[in-house]
Amino acid sequence: MRNLSHRFCVAPMMDWTDRHCRYFHRRLSRHARLYTEMITAPALKHGDVPRHLDFDPSEQPLALQLGGSDPADLAHAAMLGERWGYDEINLNCGCPSERVQTGSFGACLMADPGLVARCVRAMRETVTVPVTVKHRIGLDASQDYGFVRDFVGTVADAGCGAFIVHARNAVLRGLSPKENREIPPLRYEVVHRLKRDFPHATIVLNGGLADWRAIEQELGTVDGVMLGRIAYHDPYFLAHVDARLFGSDEPPPTRAAVVEAMLPYVTAQVARGTPLRAIARHMLGLYHGVSGGRRYRQLLSDARRLKEAGAGLLREALAEVENSGSEP
Ligand SMILES: Cc1cc2nc3c(=O)[nH]c(=O)nc-3n(C[C@H](O)[C@H](O)[C@H](O)COP(=O)(O)O)c2cc1C
Repeated sequence: MRNLSHRFCVAPMMDWTDRHCRYFHRRLSRHARLYTEMITAPALKHGDVPRHLDFDPSEQPLALQLGGSDPADLAHAAMLGERWGYDEINLNCGCPSERVQTGSFGACLMADPGLVARCVRAMRETVTVPVTVKHRIGLDASQDYGFVRDFVGTVADAGCGAFIVHARNAVLRGLSPKENREIPPLRYEVVHRLKRDFPHATIVLNGGLADWRAIEQELGTVDGVMLGRIAYHDPYFLAHVDARLFGSDEPPPTRAAVVEAMLPYVTAQVARGTPLRAIARHMLGLYHGVSGGRRYRQLLSDARRLKEAGAGLLREALAEVENSGSEP
């Protein structure tokens, strides 16, 4: 069974996929499914909810990723997410950081599938949008397929219909979060096996995908792919998503058109007091690998200019690359 909604997703990334980043990514692809950074259920219970949840409607389709392990708190957070207009509520069962483990959520939740099932059930009783889970393929050194199969089976029985699987183990002790995205080996075959064993679930493969050949090959087996670091560091990759995966016959936007499409947003945000840097930092990779791109990056990361400037600095950076002859 194929469900196209998750065919191409941009991964939740703390400190990276904030609303400005997502607004920018949406200028590159209409159809990619975007995810927030992880927002913890306690932060939504005690913190500034609009600051955490506000987004621009054009960011949709958009999923809210939650961190937590208390069913009642998660149900409350999911209810807020639905009220705010998110299209999906996703529970983080993949983050290995020590801080997250102290709050006993993230990847360590995989050791307690019954608790994850209770969390999913509590959220599903509160919201009508899909509740999904993002997880790893195992914990520490275990290669036991039965562990992840039983996790998915238990959580699917609680009503989770979509699983985003980062195809690596999470090592809970001894590796930093960054090392946990690089050192445990990728094992896509585990994700393929999950798709075979749960044919009715939407199974999305994540981890290490970096080129179209691999993506198109994986989409022959799983329902969707999720890309993190490539989408962030080389965002123009996203410009090809709609034509390659969603049958769009519009040509991909040029890089220059993407910068131009950001100008009204930047002007409005800067007028509201958002520092230009908070938006520009996500756009540094747009000219990745393009001649003249260096000057663009230099201008948009010049702390002094960023402090004083508004959208004009983006125009200037664009003019610099255009004059270098890299864009038509
Ligand atoms: C800076 C950074 C922050 C991340 N934050 C989160 C997060 O908040 N929630 C989550 O589920 N995964 C998080 N991840 C993991 C990514 O979602 C993704 O699973 C991982 O980067 C593997 O995909 P990739 O190889 O395409 O980058 C983060 C990754 C990075 C690089």
